[in-house]
Amino acid sequence: MVIRGGLVVDINGERKADVRVEVGKVTEVGTKLRGDREIDASGCVVSPGLVDMHVHLREPGMEEAETIETGSRAAALGGFTAVIAMPNTEPPQDDPIIISAVKARAQTALCDVYPAGAITKQREGLELAPMGEMHSLGVRIFTDDGACVASAGVMRSALQYARSLPGAIVAQHAEDETLATGHMHEGEWSSRLGIPGRPAEAEEIIVARDCILAAQTGTPVHFLHLSTAGSVAIVRAAKAQGIPVTAEAAPHHFTFTDESCATFDPLFKVNPPLRTKDDVAAVKAGLADGTIDVIASDHAPHPTETKERTFEEASPGMLGLETALALGISELVDAGVMTLTELLALMSWSPARLSGLADHGATIEKGVTANLCVIDPNLEWVLDPANLASRAQNTPMGGRKLKGKNRHTILRGEVVVLDGQATR
Ligand code: DOR
Repeated sequence: MVIRGGLVVDINGERKADVRVEVGKVTEVGTKLRGDREIDASGCVVSPGLVDMHVHLREPGMEEAETIETGSRAAALGGFTAVIAMPNTEPPQDDPIIISAVKARAQTALCDVYPAGAITKQREGLELAPMGEMHSLGVRIFTDDGACVASAGVMRSALQYARSLPGAIVAQHAEDETLATGHMHEGEWSSRLGIPGRPAEAEEIIVARDCILAAQTGTPVHFLHLSTAGSVAIVRAAKAQGIPVTAEAAPHHFTFTDESCATFDPLFKVNPPLRTKDDVAAVKAGLADGTIDVIASDHAPHPTETKERTFEEASPGMLGLETALALGISELVDAGVMTLTELLALMSWSPARLSGLADHGATIEKGVTANLCVIDPNLEWVLDPANLASRAQNTPMGGRKLKGKNRHTILRGEVVVLDGQATR
């Protein structure tokens, strides 16, 4: 099979080239290649497959919202060849049995699915989960995501323990729950709307605390979905001092502001919440200058009945896998914040490196595993939530004009998405 006529982009830059793929590997990169099967990439960018470090696939336990099959289909359609599945399942991914079960279910997924392990048993923040046993099964990302590890003592123990686990990263959902008691960003709009808030300092206090713990233990801390200007400044200062911290930002945090909640539409409810214009500008600046290392969707499917409630009662979270790339192209590339190659770094090779996934985000050259996506950066489209592969439809992007779409996805040499359609 030959992927023909595209612009090949990877960590080494860009060149016009065709890519030959045989038995799961890239076997040749050159010009005028021909093959029995040819995949059209004209006008498109051929990139290492995208990698999403933060998705909720809801299986086991919440299959009415998503399954590994439907979520991985959404991922493949979005251009992703690998995702890290968050542990807030039911039961939670907090022991080797659940991790093994998720891995087994993921064998037939349309992208590689790597379960994250919980830091604490039941994600309750009290007692460490068997992180070592989960690490033996290949788990590298540990997080209680959806909940913050509130206790500094427990967080320090987790970091001290993780130091003995090669490649392990402890990822924090940074929100102090004694401050983040409301439902949207605390500020002018929450006051106007009368919705209790979640202040910026709820996030920043934990980010600051965990930078101190990362410095003290030497274990890397990754901050999930960074959303405030203050958090970006704290991470920037910590990195300047050589403290081993990394961070991600979600597309909704560089696209929407708290003003979006003015219609009381629960589709805009998410934790951490949508912030102010200044926060959005700071997140974009953090992505541009390397303070924020990766873009991750925080794809959070919820059944319609738990979203069609009052703003205060609705579940937090929104879908992201099928719109992440387009929001990156519209809000970052077209807005002049960064180049398309820099966006792909944030969505492919940087998260692959950070998560320790050698088979993803690799330089496109002879011998590497063929995990690739072919993106049309100029295609304009309108999102219809009914057409999404996810089982849930909770996206606020319905009816929105988007630019840039994944066209083909190749997973270990198999074309799992062709011309925007899943092949199985
Ligand atoms: O809005 C959110 N939804 N934030 C989280 O951290 C968890 C997620 C979910 O699981 O629905």
